[in-house]
Amino acid sequence: MGRLLAGMSLLAVTQVAGFAVARPAAAPASPATPDTAARARAAAIVARMTSDEKLALLHGLFPPMAAGKTANELIPSAGHIDGVPRLGVPLVRESDASLGVANQIEQRKGDVATALPSSLATAASFDPAIAHAGGTMIGAEARAKRFDVLLAGGVNLTRDPWNGRNFEYLGEDPLLAGTMAGAHIAGVQSNGIVSTIKHFALNAQETGRMVLDARIDEAALRMSDLLAFEIAIEKGHPGSVMCAYNRVNGDWSCENAHLLTDVLKHDWGYQGWVMSDWGAVHSVAKAANAGLDQESGQELDSRTFFAEPLKADLAAGRVSGARVDDMVTRYLTGLIAAGLYDRPAATAQPIPYATHADVAQRAAEAGIVLLKNDGGVLPLARAAKRIVLIGGHADVGVLSGGGSSQVRSVGGAPIEVPLTSGAAASFARVTYHASSPLRAMRAALPGVDISYVDGADPVAAAAAARAADLAIVFATQWTTEAEDAPDFALHDRQDALIAAVAAAQPRTVAVLETSGPVLMPWLARVPAVVQAWYPGQRGGEALAAILTGRVDPSGRLPITFPAAASQPPRAAPVGLDTLRTLEARAAADPANAAKYELASFPVDYREGADVGYRWYEKTGAQPLFAFGHGLSYTSFAYRHPVVTGGRTLSVTFDVFNTGRREGADVPQLYVAREGTNTPMRLAAFSRVTLKPGESRRVTLTAEPRVVADFDTALPGWRVAGGSYRVALAREATDRSMLFTTTLSAATMKP
Ligand code: BGC
Repeated sequence: MGRLLAGMSLLAVTQVAGFAVARPAAAPASPATPDTAARARAAAIVARMTSDEKLALLHGLFPPMAAGKTANELIPSAGHIDGVPRLGVPLVRESDASLGVANQIEQRKGDVATALPSSLATAASFDPAIAHAGGTMIGAEARAKRFDVLLAGGVNLTRDPWNGRNFEYLGEDPLLAGTMAGAHIAGVQSNGIVSTIKHFALNAQETGRMVLDARIDEAALRMSDLLAFEIAIEKGHPGSVMCAYNRVNGDWSCENAHLLTDVLKHDWGYQGWVMSDWGAVHSVAKAANAGLDQESGQELDSRTFFAEPLKADLAAGRVSGARVDDMVTRYLTGLIAAGLYDRPAATAQPIPYATHADVAQRAAEAGIVLLKNDGGVLPLARAAKRIVLIGGHADVGVLSGGGSSQVRSVGGAPIEVPLTSGAAASFARVTYHASSPLRAMRAALPGVDISYVDGADPVAAAAAARAADLAIVFATQWTTEAEDAPDFALHDRQDALIAAVAAAQPRTVAVLETSGPVLMPWLARVPAVVQAWYPGQRGGEALAAILTGRVDPSGRLPITFPAAASQPPRAAPVGLDTLRTLEARAAADPANAAKYELASFPVDYREGADVGYRWYEKTGAQPLFAFGHGLSYTSFAYRHPVVTGGRTLSVTFDVFNTGRREGADVPQLYVAREGTNTPMRLAAFSRVTLKPGESRRVTLTAEPRVVADFDTALPGWRVAGGSYRVALAREATDRSMLFTTTLSAATMKP
């Protein structure tokens, strides 16, 4: 912020490499990019196309249902768009890729890929370099497998702890999520291929995702979910934006002129193309004129809207020739800017899986969060001669999340359970990666007697725990795209198992392999708790490194852990009861199953922009574990802080490693205007790795749009001048280092 706010509404502000720079308000919102040159080149190519050639680029095949529709090879995956060979327009193949090159239900037999930990685990690293390395790795594998466009960059904010796709997203805070998504996307695209960013916007729950209407007021949307997209697009320059299934304030996302044209293309100056989610198109002229550029997975829509129907609407003048040219030009701009137009991923290449596994392991090690460690139970005392691992299939592997992001990982799937019902049944299976915590622990601690019991019988598990010096009990929560968890409790009597083990063995460690937060009724009785998320194909090894202390735990929660189901804005998925009733009726009346479809229903995001930790502050609720929380085996102190106000809000301070071993800390800056009841917001963070006794002077500079509010009357961002509260903090609820400073009034373009 700072100097650049001086000119009030005459200035546009963006962040480049941590520094704010000012540009005239008339400039496009995204920083100057090669997109301008790419667009000019794209337009020249489009000028040479026939109308049919243009239209053919505006709808893509869904390979599993498109046999015979192209003369080119269809690789089983998410998407395929033939090129125009006479003009050099390449054939484009699309794959899902949030956590690795996906291969749902092993549609490509035997084709494995490296599986990162869940995106939420990556977010917990608070380290854009980890996100970038993961994206770079996935992009390299994708290119080597002949994929040109990756359906990655999921950045929907986590509004509900039970959302089935929480593991695919980057948490509840727009600055953290946007920063990490931007880094991931830039990493993918460093391979000369395209990454999307998705799902634009407010696909915040899976229950009824194809029909629900997400409702929120404009300013709140700009300051929450849209801000995450805006930051990620600035930092990552994704070639494409995928619009979501749901409606937003009445209009389907993929025909929402406000989102696609007013916000994305006008306010943010986005030059790439908007592709639909698979089966998310509902109209021809309305969608095209609202800003949808390409229909994806056409076989999943009720008809192929952007083929013959678009041709008819073009002929009838319902869609203009200029708009069709713009749609194609945007598609080619995205391909050219990413580099794939000139170098498509046409040839299969060997993949260095061993090196890539290390990327997955580093991400898991950086994202695992030590939630609790009373009495220094961890790292595992050398004195422990007998350790028992209990439950969670820790003998064979670690859990992963289900849906389109599912990776068939290197090493295969030691456990794979098909689903028998529900919206995910056709494309998801409960899948474990072959990374056994038991094997990894035995390798890390030779000479220690390490055994495993499956936990099915709590009495036997308690007996095994009693007979050992230390017990590590693994709990799992599987979630999937297309369905929400009904709640966020651990199921299958796992709470009782943990309680029984802890009652038998005072030195008990609970390891949670979950999509997101879970309730922990046993917390007071368990001295150590490790949040492992879905830790990916090297999860077992990463856990062993953290538990034994070879690696210092440095993850921080990117999402609040509620203390009770009543604390979050919605205790359970909206519409789930109705859906269950309809499913039961359909099962009882299969001949008429179509009669029992879920009708559109509203989801009111009453928390507005006060998502996650801000909601807790607003409602005065004490979470179980706060956003930003995470322990280390060493300790840190912040000293000599200097707070700067005026046009820039920043805090400069020394971070000291006051402990006895190397570790990484994540100092966080929260701000709020004095005299308002606005909760404090994360305005900056940094990850700092220090040796024992080492210190580093760090400056955290507030992201200007986090300090500002969105003013729809302006329209734009407005920093109210006056007094601000500033917390230099270890987590969202930490108020131990509180300052006040004064900021000048300023405005910024939307
Ligand atoms: C998901 C997208 C995914 C697409 C293609 C959809 O169901 O919402 O995230 O990219 O399928 O597989």
